[in-house]
Order: sequence, then C-alpha cells, then structure tokens
Amino acid sequence: MSKKLIVNKILYDILENAPEEEITRQEYFIEQLKEYVATKEKVLNRKLKYIINTFGCQMNARDSEKISGILESAGFMPSDDEKHADFVLYNTCTVRENANNKVYGRLGYLNSLKQKNPDMIIALCGCMMQEENVREKIKTTYRFVDLVFGTHNIFKFAELLVSSIYTNKQVMEVWDKTDKIVEELPIVRKYSYKSGVNIMFGCDNFCSYCIVPYVRGRERSRKSEDIINEIKKLISDGVTEIMLLGQNVNSYGKGLDEKITFAELLDRIAKIEGLKRIRFMTSHPKDLSDELIDVIAKHDNICKHFHLPVQSGSTRVLTEMNRHYTREQYLALVDKIRAKIPNIALTTDIIVGFPGETEEEFEETLDLVKRVRYDSAFTFIYSKRTGTRAALMEDQIPEDVVSKRFDRLLKEVQKISEEKAKELTGKTVEVLIEEENEKEEGFLTGRLENNSVVHFKGDKTLIGSYKNVHLDECKGFYYIGTLQ
Ligand code: 5AD
Ligand code: SF4
Repeated sequence: MSKKLIVNKILYDILENAPEEEITRQEYFIEQLKEYVATKEKVLNRKLKYIINTFGCQMNARDSEKISGILESAGFMPSDDEKHADFVLYNTCTVRENANNKVYGRLGYLNSLKQKNPDMIIALCGCMMQEENVREKIKTTYRFVDLVFGTHNIFKFAELLVSSIYTNKQVMEVWDKTDKIVEELPIVRKYSYKSGVNIMFGCDNFCSYCIVPYVRGRERSRKSEDIINEIKKLISDGVTEIMLLGQNVNSYGKGLDEKITFAELLDRIAKIEGLKRIRFMTSHPKDLSDELIDVIAKHDNICKHFHLPVQSGSTRVLTEMNRHYTREQYLALVDKIRAKIPNIALTTDIIVGFPGETEEEFEETLDLVKRVRYDSAFTFIYSKRTGTRAALMEDQIPEDVVSKRFDRLLKEVQKISEEKAKELTGKTVEVLIEEENEKEEGFLTGRLENNSVVHFKGDKTLIGSYKNVHLDECKGFYYIGTLQ
C-alpha cells in the first residue's frame, strides 16, 4: 500500500469508530490527538508545542481559550514564539480591513517557517474565515495553510485537526450558520482568577457598517442554568471576576424557552456566592432597560462601569448606521444612568468618517464627547466591509479628511480621559492584582473597578488577590501607585 493510502486508511478507521453524540465524539478525537502527539514526541524526542495568535474582541479571546483547552488536553505545550511551534493558529478578526491585511502579511512569514519545519501545522479560524472571498484566496494563494475552520464549528476543532493530520490536503470546513451551542469541552484559562463567560452568540442588529451579523450569525442565547453552572464551576476553580460576553447582551433571552431578560440573568448571577467582580460586554443603547440600571445599582459586586458604544453624535448618521436611537435619546440615557449610579465609569466606541458624514455632523460627535465626558473611548476610522449596507453608500469620505477628524477626536477623548483619571489621584482604591508588569521589574499591575490600571511595587505571589493601592500619580490613562 502507498503511504497516502495507509494514511487514508488510518483516518477512515478513526472516523468509522467515532461516536455520534457531539461531546463524546469530540472527546474521542481528543484521545486520537493524544496518541498522535505521544507518537510524534517519541520520534522527535521532544515535546510538541503550540501557539495561538488572537486578533479582535473578547469573544475571540474566549474562543482561543477553548482551542487551547483541546490542544493541552491532547498533550501540546504552549510556546511563546511561532519559530518553535509545531502548531500555529491565527484566530482572526474582520471588523476592520486592516486586521485582514495583518493576517495575510503574517502568513508569508509562517510559510518561511514551515519551509524549515515541514511538519509544522498552520491553521486559521475566526471571523475572517466566514468570508467567501477570504477562503477563495487561501485556497488559491495560501496552499500551505493546513486547516481552516470558522466561528460556528470551533467545538469540532479536535475532529478537524485529526482530519488535517491524516490527510495531505488543506482541510477547510466553515459553516454559514448553526443552532448548536456546545460548551462542555476542556478550556485553558489565560488567567486563573478571571474568566469570560459567553452568554449569547451572534448579532441580529445589522448596523449598516458592521460585518459581525454576517460572520457570527443570528443571535443565540445560552440557557441561564448552563451559564450559572459554568460560573459556579469557575468559582470553585478560584475565579473571582467574570466578564459576561455577547455582541449585544441586552437582547439576551430572546428565543429561549424560559422567559428571562439580561437584567434578570445578571441579578441571579450577582447573587451567586463567591463573585467579587462582574463585568459585561457589549450593551447596545437601543434596548438598555431601566431594570438593568437598577440591578447594577443594587449589587456591590457588579462593576460600576458601563461600555456603551455611541458610534456617532449625529442623529442623521445614527439613522444611516441603523442604530435605532437619536443623539438626544443617547444623552438622556447617560443622564439616567448617572442619576441612579453617580460614580459610574462610562466608556464607548466611536466611528469617524462614516459615508456621508459632514464636518457639522463630525462636530456633533465631538460635542457629544465633551458633554458625556467618557472615562475612555475606542475610536475607529470607518472601514468599508464588503457585504454590508454602508459599503454600497455613495459619498465615502476621503482618507485625508477622515484622518484629520480622527486626530481631532482622539485628542479630545484623551484630554477628557486624563482629566477624569486625575480625579482619582490621591485616593486609595481596591484593585485586583492581575499580572507582573512587563516593562518594570518588581512591579505589578492591578485593575480598578472602573477598568483602568495601576502599576505598583509588589511581590508576584499577590497575583489574583484584591488589595488596596494608593494612586500616587496619574500618567494619562494609567496610574503609578503604592500598595497599602
Ligand atoms: N469600521 C470601523 N469600525 C467598526 N466597528 C465595527 N464595524 C466597523 C467598521 N466597519 C467598530 C464599532 C464597534 C467596534 C467593536 O468596532 O465601533 O462598536
Ligand atoms: Fe456590529 Fe451593531 Fe451587532 Fe455591534 S450591535 S456587533 S456594531 S451589528
């Protein structure tokens, strides 16, 4: 038998014996991977290593933890350099064009590494892979990529990797949609003391500039019982901070058999014994309920920080963006939140240069920023995404105009952030000590309830604990402090 046929026979036998039920099936493929890793280690006389490069949002970060969980269960060890890795995965983002270009650029470099180590497995996943034109390009121009999968079939990763190992062809499996939620597979958390928890997947909002609804599919909420059980398990593993994740958490519960809103879910989660800090992302202003504000105000363990993307300060632009709120409604919402929770930190996302945005409309955005006085804001240059409604709009704004507006906005945002951050200088606050400071030896980094960070001297055994830190000096968007 030729080598190719033998390999095909191995894969055939593995697939023949695979169980049907999804969790047991994936556990079976993890066992198959384990055997592969053990054999390969004997041949190479060293451990097999993996690295995942994650682009984009918190959802992707959580997905990467799921994939790490499967790889580590199979025996792969983490590597911090692609040069030394046997398995390299890029978990991609496609919200803005430049993220795509970065991935293509890196692929050329990976190809050069693979020529030195032909056994290296190169895999791609994430939102970019949901786009057909991207897949075509990978099929034709990037033949050396071994495995491609999408956002809907991550839970099948072990099975897909087995197929990729035992076939000599590029394996590409991307689903357009799914109604499945498979969450019980192994996960490796990046931090021992904090974790993301998916409460829903997908987005049905179709903001006219945004590609997310096309690549992450329709909204699907997880059952509250499953979410709560996952959180209880995390607490028993030592987690004290959780971040509830969804593209629009305010529409949590739609489509479930049980009748439940996000506010009710949050209230139930806040009552679970053992959680010190609860965060959530992202909240769409159009369906933020009074009930939710009350729940946040009521519980000490829900962080007093609201990320409330505004996108633009002009009602006309907001309508074109399909955001379903006006400038006035947004400002009224901010007032309502601040009236009930006076010291809440507010952050936002803003897009500059949406098609048709006039100078006056941009100035309305600047004015809104001055009125709201955000603690911080993520500012983005509008990026045309093929397939979205805005991509077809006439009157795309020239780059030089957008770039000038962007700089003006950034300057204003940073000035206000700094002024707001200074208000806390001289105070002592409780922080969660997250990690060693990368730049300064002997320094640790802690996070305040409002999501900003402070660097201070301390011993790394304190990582994961909550301590009081005096904020000595404000350095713009972070502080230098002293452990109390
Ligand atoms: N161009 C620029 N920014 C975008 N965002 C989403 N789509 C685009 C786009 N096409 C921004 C929005 C969103 C954040 C996650 O990314 O501000 O809130
Ligand atoms: Fe994109 Fe709008 Fe959905 Fe956010 S709410 S993911 S910006 S479509």
